[in-house]
Amino acid sequence: MRTEQPKTIYLKDYQQPDYWIDETQLTFELFEDHALVHSRLSIRLNDAKPQAQAQPPLVLDGQLLELVSVELDDQPLSNYQVDDDSLTLQPQTASFALAITTRIEPQNNTALEGLYKSGGMFCTQCEAEGFRKITYYLDRPDVMSRFTTTVVADRGSYPVLLSNGNPIASGEHDGGRHWISWEDPFPKPAYLFALVAGDLCLLQDSFTTMTGREIDLRIYVEPENREQCDHAMDSLKRSMRWDEEVYGREYDLDIFMIVAVNDFNMGAMENKGLNIFNSSCVLAQQDTATDMAFQRVEAVVAHEYFHNWSGNRVTCRDWFQLSLKEGFTVFRDSEFSADMNSRTVKRIEDVTFLRANQFAEDAGPMAHPVRPDSFIEISNFYTLTVYEKGAEVVRMLHTLLGAEGFRKGTDLYFERHDGQAVTCDDFIKALEDANGADFSQFKRWYSQAGTPRLDVASHYDAARREYRLSFRQHCPATPGQSEKRPQVIPVRMALLDSAGQELPLQMAGEQQSLGNETVLSVTEAEQEFVFANIDQEPLPSLLRGFSAPVKLSYPYSRDDRVFLAKHDPDGFNRWEAAQGLAVDVLQGLVEIHRAGRPLHLDQRLADIYRTVLADTALDAAMVAEIIRLPSEAYLVELADTAHVDAIHFAREWLRAELARSLKSELQQRFDSLQVSAHYSADADAMAMRSLKNTLLGYLMLTDDQAVVQQCVRQFVEADNMTDRQAALVALVNSPFEQPRQAALEHFAERWAAYPLVMDQWFSIQAGSTQPGGLERVEALMQHPLFTLRNPNKVRALIGAFANQNLVNFHRADGAGYRFLADRIIELDRLNPQIAARLVTPLSRWRKFASDRQQLMQQELARILATEKLSPDVYEVVSKSLA
Ligand code: ARG
Ligand code: ZN
Repeated sequence: MRTEQPKTIYLKDYQQPDYWIDETQLTFELFEDHALVHSRLSIRLNDAKPQAQAQPPLVLDGQLLELVSVELDDQPLSNYQVDDDSLTLQPQTASFALAITTRIEPQNNTALEGLYKSGGMFCTQCEAEGFRKITYYLDRPDVMSRFTTTVVADRGSYPVLLSNGNPIASGEHDGGRHWISWEDPFPKPAYLFALVAGDLCLLQDSFTTMTGREIDLRIYVEPENREQCDHAMDSLKRSMRWDEEVYGREYDLDIFMIVAVNDFNMGAMENKGLNIFNSSCVLAQQDTATDMAFQRVEAVVAHEYFHNWSGNRVTCRDWFQLSLKEGFTVFRDSEFSADMNSRTVKRIEDVTFLRANQFAEDAGPMAHPVRPDSFIEISNFYTLTVYEKGAEVVRMLHTLLGAEGFRKGTDLYFERHDGQAVTCDDFIKALEDANGADFSQFKRWYSQAGTPRLDVASHYDAARREYRLSFRQHCPATPGQSEKRPQVIPVRMALLDSAGQELPLQMAGEQQSLGNETVLSVTEAEQEFVFANIDQEPLPSLLRGFSAPVKLSYPYSRDDRVFLAKHDPDGFNRWEAAQGLAVDVLQGLVEIHRAGRPLHLDQRLADIYRTVLADTALDAAMVAEIIRLPSEAYLVELADTAHVDAIHFAREWLRAELARSLKSELQQRFDSLQVSAHYSADADAMAMRSLKNTLLGYLMLTDDQAVVQQCVRQFVEADNMTDRQAALVALVNSPFEQPRQAALEHFAERWAAYPLVMDQWFSIQAGSTQPGGLERVEALMQHPLFTLRNPNKVRALIGAFANQNLVNFHRADGAGYRFLADRIIELDRLNPQIAARLVTPLSRWRKFASDRQQLMQQELARILATEKLSPDVYEVVSKSLA
């Protein structure tokens, strides 16, 4: 156990800073074995803050810094205190200039936070608290400053020197060194600072804004990646246009730059005018990237671009408000993707992800509100709750206000708070003021953790021609929150007659017709809605488009679900009905298997699949979504006690059984999709590939050598990575040893020089549910291309194994848990943020049967007993055991 426990920070303790920093002038001298950082800060007392008599001390944040010198108003200063986290001095005047020089070692920075080296280039990651690892500063988002940055480095190795804003001057120094100065006219918090130095090549384009300004667009990558940037550039231009059209937001600087780096903790970072990206979120090309990767690039480019308004122009007052920018921006990027692709399919993907992952977080030991009220390490709160649930909360506001009202609200928000650091309350207030709305109860979505359950019952009164829906909501207790109050739950719904037609809706006692679809606002713990003039008992279509992030339950029979899957006019709910039936069938099979009884296929599920397989009018991507069984992770989340082996067995059995029953339909549709073979990256072509490869996955379960040959042929002949990879996945998860090995070897030889492609190779093997998974992963750790120092590699191998390969990770002897704990301990010394993320699968121990629980707890305890644990890992592990 550590001796001193890291300290918890509370939202309720927020206070304004004692000082502001109006101007920040930085000079970086970059060398191979160190960097010197010279800062000159214009500091001013915050006179709006009530002060005690004496002028308060100035406490600057700083970590892992070597302090070289301090000057106050150009005089050397010796009267200051330095400790592990800060530099404290006592100014005598209300405004002054402070000049500080620090020495740091970017080449030894393995945490990838602050200034570090990725391959041959220097780059930064400052959000949330990385700037304090560069120099002493008021490293908090409510301190906004105008930055001027000069970068000095060797011209040969680092011809490209970048920072935020516009280049204003450059020149040469002796010894082959050169320098460039950048000036960012927009005051910003330090977390948006960025610097890049490297030997990079440039893809350049331009965009003309809605007021006719021409913006210089630049994507910088390492020379070998030059050919892989077109899709990112195209996505950027579409994002810029979309934000003008949908939100009225125009870009503000003259240059917008994206730089791709290989070693990056997260997806990307929205630094003002200089976005830094994980290369996995920039590079995409037919031969090397899957359709999923293409969509991810499009979404992340958009996300970071949209931050320029929702995050940069209006930023967060403190890190508890993280969802102010992240929830809103995820909502914005998901709507963008919906507009660029199929809206229904995008919604299905997002909901599937949310339910399998965020719901699990909400039910686990790290559960926290969208606006947390305390944390030890803020890096641990870049979570699915803050991002994805936060986006759902904004989506509900959009649903309640309608598109027009929501736009009025965001216009007011941007206008009122431009240039400020604000809170989630300010966001809500702007939406309220612009619409005359009252969201005081709605705000519980920001303060209460946990996923509400919404139980619905119905009653039809033929005599009165009335149909009653009764709602009961309940949110389970979460750490620190035992009691919850009712939340506002918007339920988009319709009522269907026996032909599947939507009935006109009218509430009993009211004259107004609501049309065929409406949004009910459930606000009470128990609440009823009565519909009038209903001539026959309808079937309700509830929570259309997943209008609230809740667990809805209505006593649908399997026949009801079949009916909805075939007839609901709402595409999302058609999918939801098929999904609900598949969940019900699988949960039944798990129980039957555990009772040792033989399994039987419910023909109703096969029947739905048969119907959609024959429906050539339906979007091919929708067909693929409907015939995809719920994931093991989702079934684990839904279970009170998850029996991983039984879940895996039942799901695999069902897949194989469906494949056998539907063999000819699957094969026929598969063959029909072969004709349209010419590659294109548009939505239709992606939809075809998605369906084709889903079909291939099923067909491979039919033990037919002809199919195996077909799969091998697809692997060899594919002209794109989506088809090639799908074939590889099918082979790797098959029992056919020879073609599997041959394909893996061939793939590794062909793509050895492409790190992102090799990430896929690692990840596909890590995810293979064939027996011996742990041994395979251990062997792959020794592969020359694997390294713990690259987060993408860690995610591809260790992350994929622990999160996606449930049968192998949860093997009964606990070896999977021990392996993961060892890697966490090892990685914590290099990169605490990545180490802490790997704890998630162990933190979910309460979900599993008691033998597994014990083994998982043991490993958590072993991690906690490790010397010099980072606050990141300490927080997640200690909360998991609490
Ligand atoms: N703001 C970035 C984004 O979502 C993510 C930064 C993550 N930083 C971190 N320390 N976890 O676009
Ligand atoms: Zn973001």
